[in-house]
Amino acid sequence: MCGIVGYIGDKKAYPILIKGLSRLEYRGYDSAGIALLENVDKINLYKRKGKVQDLVDFIGDESTVGNVGIGHTRWATHGPPNDTNAHPHYSGNSRIALVHNGIIENYDTIKEALIKKGHTFTSDTDTEVLVHLIEDIQENGGVSLEEAIRIALNEVHGAYAIVVISKDEPDKIIGAKKSSPLVVGLGEDEYYFASDATPIVEYTKNVVYLEDQQIAIVDRKNGLRIISTSNKEVSPYVQELEMELEVLEKGGYDHFMLKEIYEQPRAIKDSLRGRLNAKEGWVSLGGIKDYEDQIAKANRIIIIACGTSWHAGLVGEYYIEDLARIPVEVEYASEFRYRNPIIRKDDVVIAISQSGETADTIAALNMAKEQGATILGIVNVVGSTISRITDAGTYTHAGPEIGVASTKAFTTQVSLLAMMALMIGKKRGTIEDERFQRLIEEMEMLPTKLEGLIEKSNEFCITIAEKYKDASNALFLGRGNNFPIALEGALKLKEISYIHAEGYPAAEMKHGPIALIDEEMPIFVIATQGANYEKVVSNIQEVKARKGKVIAIITKGDTTVKELADDYIKIPDADDFVVPILATIPFQLMSYHIAVMRNCNVDQPRNLAKSVTVE
Ligand code: G6P
Repeated sequence: MCGIVGYIGDKKAYPILIKGLSRLEYRGYDSAGIALLENVDKINLYKRKGKVQDLVDFIGDESTVGNVGIGHTRWATHGPPNDTNAHPHYSGNSRIALVHNGIIENYDTIKEALIKKGHTFTSDTDTEVLVHLIEDIQENGGVSLEEAIRIALNEVHGAYAIVVISKDEPDKIIGAKKSSPLVVGLGEDEYYFASDATPIVEYTKNVVYLEDQQIAIVDRKNGLRIISTSNKEVSPYVQELEMELEVLEKGGYDHFMLKEIYEQPRAIKDSLRGRLNAKEGWVSLGGIKDYEDQIAKANRIIIIACGTSWHAGLVGEYYIEDLARIPVEVEYASEFRYRNPIIRKDDVVIAISQSGETADTIAALNMAKEQGATILGIVNVVGSTISRITDAGTYTHAGPEIGVASTKAFTTQVSLLAMMALMIGKKRGTIEDERFQRLIEEMEMLPTKLEGLIEKSNEFCITIAEKYKDASNALFLGRGNNFPIALEGALKLKEISYIHAEGYPAAEMKHGPIALIDEEMPIFVIATQGANYEKVVSNIQEVKARKGKVIAIITKGDTTVKELADDYIKIPDADDFVVPILATIPFQLMSYHIAVMRNCNVDQPRNLAKSVTVE
């Protein structure tokens, strides 16, 4: 939620900040703003409701002078999206400007106290309160900006990543974080701040991921210094970014989402690389190798996640219980953390997260950690908070995912869970050798099968999208390990095309959704050959008897469902085990094309953000 950037150096800050904000727009896009420090008397501050491009248009020919600056793209929490609530925010004397990602929970109390002291506020935001608090401390205590920020941060509760500039200290830029992410990029005599590394990678590969309650002070003369909010010096841990710039561009595709759908064969290949070998018959997850015994001996595995990652967790439950015979519970992080759950020391808690920054998932993990459980992560963004707070973990290696609707992150999460289930099953001796071998062969064939599937099914998906794009409701059905894929299919459609959609276990349809079926209603069904085939065929008959329109995902060679369905998409013949990954593709493509045909903003759907760093 919200993206922030900052720059100090010899270059013009404006283009760097704007480009950075465009890269971070996936984190929020209801308003944007920048502040450029021109000289000790002048900050050029512009902010605007709307997207980064609206801000650029608004700035037009106005002055963009300054080689120190900060920027923000917002996902509203306190106060509606409008020009006034947009960041940066000024202190009362307009000498300090600040951008913020997070929520200051006690802002109300602080605001009241500041009002009593004569402060007046123009916006509804918690952020404006924070910058006034810094100003107040500085003026009354006669302290430096850095000290005022440190004292203020000790007074606020909640989450923050902030970057601050001041007319009084024009050679400085200061950033700090707690719970929301902040990265510092170290160039030659120049420094960058950003919510993630994507705005930085173009300029430098050397970065420092700030830890909670750390303040990074950059000044032109002395470079970077880090202190804690309790005023202890911290030596910066500089890491090298592995990200390449090209992965942040659309590369000829109309949208990031489409590019990311097409990247899945490569992403899964990267995810499997060095972790699974069918010829030699092994699966090994290096990142959690030291915890293999502990996982194999666990009494219970608890998977916590949100959104699409939660759906991947559900597939993981089917995999792990089937192959490794360990009970698995899949929990919404937001529910888990607030419901006083039973957590034991021999529980293994696995967090699944694309961003590694989801606030609820982080809080749930911390809670499990405090209660003594082993905590592991399945994360995409390297160096993210979850990857750092877990005991161990494994990266999905999907590469940066920019489209707000998750695609390649999901299929790589499912692939990792499949490998994890195979690994634990093998270790516990709960999977027969023949099945183990067959399944790793199936896994290894996935990238090739996916490549063919995407190429062949895209045209069919366009035709189907054309037919059903005007629907107001849709139902997605699946059974067994394809039930979570039905949930994910429904989520994809609703989040990018705004068509109301529900995912259901096919047999549960009789207990409610069947009442909605009429000749207008498209019902997407995963009806592939395998354990549940006959049952799903019966469910399709039930739909057809009520004149519903059936769009089925079938296995190549199928004839029964092909005849019954109004439309169908074929996926390659494969073991039930990998079908969830294959069946996901047509749902992604259909949702994508429907959204495009409905003129929706596919990469940045309304009200959503990719990284939900507030609870
Ligand atoms: C947001 C995104 C979803 C994502 C969810 C969880 O809602 O729009 O695509 O699945 O957050 O995010 P995470 O980064 O933890 O996987």
